[in-house]
Amino acid sequence: MARAEIVQIHAREVFDSRGRPTVEAVVTCEGGRPCRAIAPAGASTGRAEARELRDGGERLGGWGVRRAVENVLREIAPAVIGRDAADQAAIDAKLIALDASANKERLGANALLAVSLASAYAAADALGQSAVEHLHYLWRQVRNPVHESAALDTVGHGPSLPLPMVNMISGGKHAGGQLDFQDYLLMPVGAASYSQALEWIVAAYQQLGRHLTEAGHEGVLVGDEGGYGPKLRSNEEALDVLMRVIERTGLRPGRDLAIALDVAASHFHDAGKYRLSATGGRELTGPELAEHLTGLVRQYPIVSIEDGLAEDDWDGWTELTKQLEDRVQLIGDDLFATNPERLRHGIERGVANAVLIKLNQIGTLSETLQTLKLAVDHGYRPIISARSGETEDVTIADLVVATGAGQIKVGSVARSERLAKYNQLLRWEDECAGRWPYVGKGPVATWLSAE
Ligand code: PGA
Ligand code: ZN
Repeated sequence: MARAEIVQIHAREVFDSRGRPTVEAVVTCEGGRPCRAIAPAGASTGRAEARELRDGGERLGGWGVRRAVENVLREIAPAVIGRDAADQAAIDAKLIALDASANKERLGANALLAVSLASAYAAADALGQSAVEHLHYLWRQVRNPVHESAALDTVGHGPSLPLPMVNMISGGKHAGGQLDFQDYLLMPVGAASYSQALEWIVAAYQQLGRHLTEAGHEGVLVGDEGGYGPKLRSNEEALDVLMRVIERTGLRPGRDLAIALDVAASHFHDAGKYRLSATGGRELTGPELAEHLTGLVRQYPIVSIEDGLAEDDWDGWTELTKQLEDRVQLIGDDLFATNPERLRHGIERGVANAVLIKLNQIGTLSETLQTLKLAVDHGYRPIISARSGETEDVTIADLVVATGAGQIKVGSVARSERLAKYNQLLRWEDECAGRWPYVGKGPVATWLSAE
């Protein structure tokens, strides 16, 4: 591959979808245009995540990222200018070495990720490649380092359009704790194309709005990811609402639209107990919560459950996996934190069967690809995911296509920071003109047929 020498790096503070500051980096390679990338930010963050650097103090409630921006300008730029952005592994290794802390807290994972991603986009631009072409080339290098060719695969591990997992009802930290579980989602498993999948979801979202209004939730607000945040009495009520909505949309529950949950259990776990404060204040042990989830899986067409138990409840997770691995996709988000060591530990213990991939949980593109490879090598389904604090940056949409990861989780179909990703996928579907397959229900088919 030709060289793409970095000639300039800039950074600035911009704002995310919650109105909080975040880092934008701008990288330019020889012969290319300036290319930018923006770090996202979580709210229901896992303890094992890489640390973003915030200013603290009075300004902007302490959320400012001027120190992270300064780190890009004063430390990262001089160390990286002159290097080859086409060699992503070397760029990221340099960023990691420069930071030199265990969790990227010194320079800030927000600073490192913005530079890491902007470098990849700058390399693509200078080399005259699309984002998908370049990210696919990087993915092939990680998957199979012997391959040097930048040519796109057309079958197998080539680029593909993903099955989306879309937030409909929000609870937990994203919607003022109106419900204990964080997301109640739909997966358009029966759609024949990505655009049809999105169209079904949009139709269901509109039906949900109508249904909630009719049920007396007039003026109900949407959460951080655009899902409706009604006050409901129980998880069952939320699931009943989704069932009704699927039917009202004229689609078949489980066949066309299946249900997924992000329990985000770490966030109502305290001193060994799971406190369901929004729905009656019950306190459950790990095995009782696992039993509750198993009951829901029996009752509803649920195909995927994320963070069903807390991030450090490894014993509980082993049990939950034994109980449910044949019936649903079990995703570790806070549990694995896109961290290869934590994922390896999970693989060894037989915990979960899928992993949420969030670039800023680990902090560089190369490490994200390494975690993705580890997942794929061990039969764990990857789901490329946005954060609750997002921007117009569409890297995750490009990445899910380029790696053929198969599933994407972005939030709901309201709010432009979410639609930016869904729309980018529509563009790829259009531009690839059938060259890249739509994966359909493929990634979760095992669990659908087990119904
Ligand atoms: P977060 O939530 O971005 O606030 O961490 C997303 C998720 O839990 O999947
Ligand atoms: Zn989650």
